[in-house]
Amino acid sequence: MSAPLELSIERSAYGGEGVAHLDGKTCFVEGALPGERVLARVTADKGGYLKARVFKVLKASPHRTAPSCRYAKSCGGCQYQHVTYEEELRLKQAQVTELLTRAGWPADKISGIVASPSPERYRNSLTVQVVRKHGRALTGYYGQDNTTLVPVVDCPLLRPELVPYLSVTPPYKDKAERLTYKVDADGRVHPGEKPVFIRMALAGRRYLVPAGGFFQVNEAVASEAARRIAAWVGEAAPERLLDLYAGVGTLGLLCLDAASEVVFAEEHEGSVEALRMNIAESGAQDRLRVVTGRVEHRLEELTPWITPRSVVLVDPPRKGLAEGMAVWLARSGVQEVLYLSCDPSTLARDIRDLLQGGVYEPVEALPLDMFPRTRHIETLVRIRRRG
Ligand SMILES: C[S@@+](CC[C@H](N)C(=O)[O-])C[C@H]1O[C@@H](n2cnc3c(N)ncnc32)[C@H](O)[C@@H]1O
Repeated sequence: MSAPLELSIERSAYGGEGVAHLDGKTCFVEGALPGERVLARVTADKGGYLKARVFKVLKASPHRTAPSCRYAKSCGGCQYQHVTYEEELRLKQAQVTELLTRAGWPADKISGIVASPSPERYRNSLTVQVVRKHGRALTGYYGQDNTTLVPVVDCPLLRPELVPYLSVTPPYKDKAERLTYKVDADGRVHPGEKPVFIRMALAGRRYLVPAGGFFQVNEAVASEAARRIAAWVGEAAPERLLDLYAGVGTLGLLCLDAASEVVFAEEHEGSVEALRMNIAESGAQDRLRVVTGRVEHRLEELTPWITPRSVVLVDPPRKGLAEGMAVWLARSGVQEVLYLSCDPSTLARDIRDLLQGGVYEPVEALPLDMFPRTRHIETLVRIRRRG
């Protein structure tokens, strides 16, 4: 093991690590905060940069706090247990600003981050890992190495209804590698393995969702994002909204008053089934369409729906838009593109492509703290055709 080295932390990187310099190389230091002086051990030399972990804090940041979680040192779920929530928000704002401005987005078009009403007890879904060892099934979260199982009996991020399910172990012979649960809009817990549809709420509306399918995990902050999207679509008043990566239709169905027609595209079978039921419940079936399958394989089918008075909303998973999608959008000629992202680094990559050619201009980027205490950041972006 290498000897600890003294480092001065300059800023924080997306992911939560403190950034320092060592012999001209950038060093990402886990557990360190901007302004701190720490003793750290280098854990990996990646060629162009180093990774390190705090061994001892020599001069602490005034924003350093004691973790509220007893598993903070071993669990891999949280990266901001050692800092006040106010400072976590400032760090995340700075990270989004750094990533987006490097991609050509103007700093003055980045709004202040939307805080979560509570940094704890916000998660409406739970995934428990299952490991079988010595004839027993053990459950818990994966640790910081992403491999070691950390048995946990509480997690401060979970809604209280989910906490008892951390201690449920499946029979040894059961093959499941993980167990998932969701709390529905009435506070009832449902295992994800059951092929049932449950009711989840967002921005004052209820939706049918497959118990094992995607739904936004922080209802309060996701509702803020959804309301903002509906307001922007309202301002644009498009003849058609394309809701790509639509899930069960949550976002597009909130825009029914603003857009004359909505075209949804989604690949997950259970979500598509729920989407069709949510559409039937909306009573607006005659102006709603569904395109199934991977968006990137359906561009031929989607292109005829695109007009100069359309708005396209995309809400992809962390890996961002599939290859070629951002260029397709940049050439589409649509009135506006709204992009709800859960990873600002892939968002920055896609923004570069969307702004290339100068057809579209940045209007607003709004960071939202959908996942307090963790490295993740949601960002909502609005881009408009010039002229
Ligand atoms: C972040 S979720 C957003 C869902 C929805 N917009 C919402 O707010 O509930 C991303 C969705 O995209 C779907 N998805 C992922 N990759 C896709 C692809 N290549 N084509 C179509 N849908 C995809 C997932 O099944 C998931 O429902």
